[in-house]
Formats: sequence, structure tokens, C-alpha cells
Amino acid sequence: MTALAIIGGSGFTNLKMLEVVRREVVHTPYGEPSAPLTHGLLDGKEVTFLPRHGSGHIIPPHKVNYRANLWALKSAGIHRVIGVAAVGGIRKDMQPGMIAVPDQIIDYTYCRQHTLFEDDLQKVTHIDFTEPYSENVRQALLKAAKKSGVKAIDGGTYGATQGPRLETAMEVTRLQRDGCDLVGMTGMPEASLAREFDMEYASCSVIANWAAGINDGPITMEEIEANLVDGLKQVHKLLVALTKALD
Ligand code: HPA
Repeated sequence: MTALAIIGGSGFTNLKMLEVVRREVVHTPYGEPSAPLTHGLLDGKEVTFLPRHGSGHIIPPHKVNYRANLWALKSAGIHRVIGVAAVGGIRKDMQPGMIAVPDQIIDYTYCRQHTLFEDDLQKVTHIDFTEPYSENVRQALLKAAKKSGVKAIDGGTYGATQGPRLETAMEVTRLQRDGCDLVGMTGMPEASLAREFDMEYASCSVIANWAAGINDGPITMEEIEANLVDGLKQVHKLLVALTKALD
């Protein structure tokens, strides 16, 4: 049984160095996950991979079945999850091509299936979400980054927006005023559902572009894709170092 899972985001539909052992189709009480789970070995250590947007990258951020994805991972015995996600950089040092491991979240998403605690309840449950990410998994990511020579920014606030469109310049100004350092579309409800499932979760954010209005001109998909190629190479290096250190 594997204990660590990686949820891949945009540009990250397969984990190239994963030696695939088994693919598992899971049906959940919340519907279908984005794809079958891929169980395999990363440098000899067991890891499970799930592409958040589906194997063919066809599920947009607001249509991802976050509950089914996490239920499927939980049912496979996983208790630690790393969510790899493309984001826009807002803070000056959050430059495209870099990696950040945020420590806070502001949630601007809406109309997503965001909780397990709404039907057939015996009691009302309110999870603590003061610190939205697992400090254990965050530190493991930062340590692995150091070990593999990958520069990763420690901390920052992730603003989760609804998408699939990118933000307006003024929306980014508002996010900046609110204290957001990064903006992405998939960080929530993934993080809070992981907490509801009692799983340890952290985000490995890959900065794909400057957020709208931070730099001159429109944001292009070419720019995003080019930066993701660079950033994801770093993520791969970091993940190998991380799994090597797994107990
Ligand atoms: N905004 C929201 N999500 C994103 C961005 C962005 O600028 N870049 C990559 N994902």
C-alpha cells in the first residue's frame, strides 16, 4: 500500500520517471475521479499518481471532482498528498519558472462540491483550517528542494480563483491587497477536502506566468506552457529527492 500520492496539474499528466506497477480504476460515492490511479515506483519508492485534469487534460479546474479524487486516494491507503499546480505570480520574487511551497490560502472559488460534511449527518463538523497545509509535507518538499538543488520559495498565500478564465488586472490588484502572493484555480477545495479526509496535504506551486496586470501585455498560453516545461523539470528533480527520503 502506498502512502504518498502526487496530484499532477497542468502540463503534468504523467510522472515520466514512474515505473508503473498497476493502474486502478476507482468508483467513489462522489462519482468518478479524474483518471485511474497509477501506482508505481519512483526511484524504488512507492508513489501513486493522479492527473487532476484527466489523462488527456480535458477537465477544467471548476469541473474537477475533487471529492472523488481524494476519496480514491484515501481508499488506496494514501495519507500524504502533494498537489502540483500551475499558478500566476503576484509577489515580486514569485517569478515565472520558479517553485513555491505556500503556507496560507484565501479561497475565492464558488459553486464547487467543497465538503464531505453536508448530507446524512449525525452531527455538524467544522474542521480546523488555521494552517491549511501540512507542515510535515511542506518541510519535506523544502528539504527535497534543497537536496536536489532546486530553488523553492518557502511560504506565501495562495489565492484560489474560480477560472477557467484568467483574472482581470484589477482582480489581481485586489488579490494583492488581500495579501495573496500567488493565484491559481485548483488549490481549493483540494486542500480543505484533504483535511476533511484527515490526509496530510501540501502544494507544490509552479509559477507559469506573472498574474494579470503585474507585467505589461496579455498572458499567452505559449508563455504559460514554456514556463511550465522549465518549472516541471525542477518539480521532477525535487520529487525524486523527496521520495528517496521517504520512510
Ligand atoms: N491565474 C490563475 N490560475 C493560473 C494562472 C493565473 O495567472 N496561471 C496559471 N494558473
